[in-house]
Amino acid sequence: MANEQITENAPRATWTSKWTFVIAAAASAVGLGNFWRFPYLAAKFGGGTFLIMYAIFVFTVGISLLLLETSLGRNTGLSVVGAFARINKKSKWLGYLAAAVPFVIGPYYFVVGGWVCKYVAAYISTSPEILANGSNYFNAFQHSELSSYVWLGVFMGLTFLVVAFGVNGGIERGNMIMMPTLIVVAIAIAIYISVQPGSSEGIKYYFVPDWSVMSPELIINALSQTFYTLSLAMGIMVTYGSYLKRREPLTKSVCQIGGFSFGVSLIAGAIIVPAAFMAFGTAPTSAGPSLMFITLPQVFLSMGPVATSMGILFFVLVLFAALTSSISVVETCVSIFVDNFHMRRSKSIIILLIYMVLFAAFVNSGYNFLSTGRIFGMEFLDFFDFVTNSIMMPIVALATCIVVGWVVKPNLLIVEIELSGYFRFKTIWTIMIKYVCPILITLILISNVATALGD
Ligand code: PFF
Repeated sequence: MANEQITENAPRATWTSKWTFVIAAAASAVGLGNFWRFPYLAAKFGGGTFLIMYAIFVFTVGISLLLLETSLGRNTGLSVVGAFARINKKSKWLGYLAAAVPFVIGPYYFVVGGWVCKYVAAYISTSPEILANGSNYFNAFQHSELSSYVWLGVFMGLTFLVVAFGVNGGIERGNMIMMPTLIVVAIAIAIYISVQPGSSEGIKYYFVPDWSVMSPELIINALSQTFYTLSLAMGIMVTYGSYLKRREPLTKSVCQIGGFSFGVSLIAGAIIVPAAFMAFGTAPTSAGPSLMFITLPQVFLSMGPVATSMGILFFVLVLFAALTSSISVVETCVSIFVDNFHMRRSKSIIILLIYMVLFAAFVNSGYNFLSTGRIFGMEFLDFFDFVTNSIMMPIVALATCIVVGWVVKPNLLIVEIELSGYFRFKTIWTIMIKYVCPILITLILISNVATALGD
């Protein structure tokens, strides 16, 4: 192993430099959330209004929690179960709850990753007319009894391959290729769209705030989007922080990670909203799979001769975003096995692979073999997405703030943060962790439960 740091437990991999950490954390943060939810939310909630609220939340609440999670990881040198147990014996349960999140998110994220892989291949081999034929192409693929499993396998294979090469040889190297490519391609597509005739109306719609849409719903959505697009409350940032060397500055790094995720969301919106205006004369009204696999192929088709290249570039972009996030989720699970069961990394990866294959195949079967199956009235994928995003993650985030803010006290982590330099904002940070974040997270939780019960 190239870089090792000796902790009380076992030699632990460490990031080669501050930048490989920032890029890995940003790579985890930038994912499907930035591409298929952000543009839709921005379009729905008055463009610039949503952008401004999202920016405010990312650079206040978001980076405060990011700092908490990464400093907790660095302080304990452990993944999430061990980290919570180490700071307070009574908070071990929180470690287990936080650890459960990546084990549930991973499988359904793989299914969606498989769809993205399929669309890269489809744009290379199939005419854009066929892909843009309403929902026919996507539905047929999603419900297929063979092809959907094959592409799920391809995406899982790519993810596990990178993780198998280790923190330095696999994850760092993979991110160093995928992240710069993602950013360059995203900027290039956004520039191309912005110079097309008809895009200016969409750009105006996207950037100019419409304050009349300001509402509690907008605020809750901007907050939830902040959590998701920073990979918070998933155990990921604690794990990535645990691979940090003591001298790396944390405060600057979390601002940079927040900046990356915000920037990519901004660009994703600057691609999708004006492109939808060019094609349909309105902002996109769909989100999630229907935006990505049904609406966007129609948008690309309307671009005429560049439809195929646009489709390939766009889906490669989304593939890289999804892959770097799924890598972080698998690494988090591997590190939980290694730390808690003192298992070898290779053995952990094999056990995890078996678990993920079975769980992901089950989620995928909700579209074919078990297509009539529902859990609490929801399709399997939607159910696991709902349980993690709307229930488990807010509970984990809230309990984390209470444990660190009120039980062990923020000073433990302030001392850790100051190992790499004076922490100028420690008072504001303490207020964030003790008061602001818990109140806002409680609001999200109440709103999610109310929405679920109201449905
Ligand atoms: N920040 C990631 C995203 O926006 O997609 C969140 C994430 C989800 C990370 C699922 C990892 C993962 F497996």
